[in-house]
Amino acid sequence: MTTELLTPDGTERAGELIRQGKLVVFPTETVYGLGADALDPGACRRIFEAKGRPQDNPLIVHIYDRSQVDLVARALPPGAEILMDSFWPGPLTLVLPKKSAVSDVVTAGLDTVGVRMPRHPAALDFLKAAGTPVAAPSANRSGKPSPTNFAMARSAMEGRAEAIIDGGQCETGLESTVAAWTDTAAGRGWTILRPGAVTREDLYSVLDDLYLSQESARDEDLLARSPGTRHPHYQPRAEVRLFSDAEELERANAAGCYQGWAVLCAEEAKNAAETERGPLLVRSYPGWIALARRLYSDFYELDSAGVPGILAQIPTEEGGISDALRNRLLKASAGRLIEF
Ligand code: TXA
Ligand code: MG
Repeated sequence: MTTELLTPDGTERAGELIRQGKLVVFPTETVYGLGADALDPGACRRIFEAKGRPQDNPLIVHIYDRSQVDLVARALPPGAEILMDSFWPGPLTLVLPKKSAVSDVVTAGLDTVGVRMPRHPAALDFLKAAGTPVAAPSANRSGKPSPTNFAMARSAMEGRAEAIIDGGQCETGLESTVAAWTDTAAGRGWTILRPGAVTREDLYSVLDDLYLSQESARDEDLLARSPGTRHPHYQPRAEVRLFSDAEELERANAAGCYQGWAVLCAEEAKNAAETERGPLLVRSYPGWIALARRLYSDFYELDSAGVPGILAQIPTEEGGISDALRNRLLKASAGRLIEF
């Protein structure tokens, strides 16, 4: 298959391809998505083939206007409108009761559908041109880190999708926050199924008593409701190991354990990383937001550079972007920690 490479001026063409049942990779402020007409089960089935994605992992439906919510959602739980008013367009996916027009292919047989309005201008133009809700997972091959720039999107999907829109480097670099309404014996309110750039503090600040902390909602319950979270995710080819502070890194370097590896860290750990017997490549960032933005593209570049492994610093404090970064790093590393 030949893949058309489009600039943000090519969104009309991309929209036309969606209406013909084709696949289009498009940029969002979080990561690039692999889109198909959400109301065309045949087109959506092709997403799973192109990604090699397990069938039990539901897709997020993308819209450009609030009027499209009614096309896919049957009802709005308490607080849903507050969340849309506060965070759309933006990196927040709301899990809503689904309409029957949305096929089981999209929702993996759940009776809910994840809906989000992205804020990247090229995404909004594209969705408007498509004129139909667009189902899209992240545009990576299943299990790999999500593409956060055009080169990564091409590398993952050229020859597998009919078009790719170049939207440059993604602003957030981590996937959207996924929130669901919960009403069980454990409690009632909106709960975070996947942390992202819209943080728990953000949700609590607008929802107040309609917010339910993850600690209050039971874990098995969350897993059952977001089935895809079981599969491996975000893993580069290089082995990833985690450390939490400069001291751990210093001890590992003193023992010469990770020569030839790369380090991704916050500025404060930079000096500990750059030692003679230490790692080959060090990338340090002024804060967690900056590290999160570059995490997946660094994974991609370091894989291309052929490093055997990556030592990544994991934030220990709760809240803010740290929750999302910790979640992705724990999966990327399969929980492996630095040793010395
Ligand atoms: O930022 C993002 O969300 C990107 C861009 C392209 O929008 N998309 C993305 O899609 O990350 P994907 O497929 O990689 O992740 C979708 C997540 C999964 O964790 C899935 O389980 C959850 O959303 N999800 C989707 N529909 C759901 C539903 N009905 N109930 C519970 N979880 C759902
Ligand atoms: Mg994904």
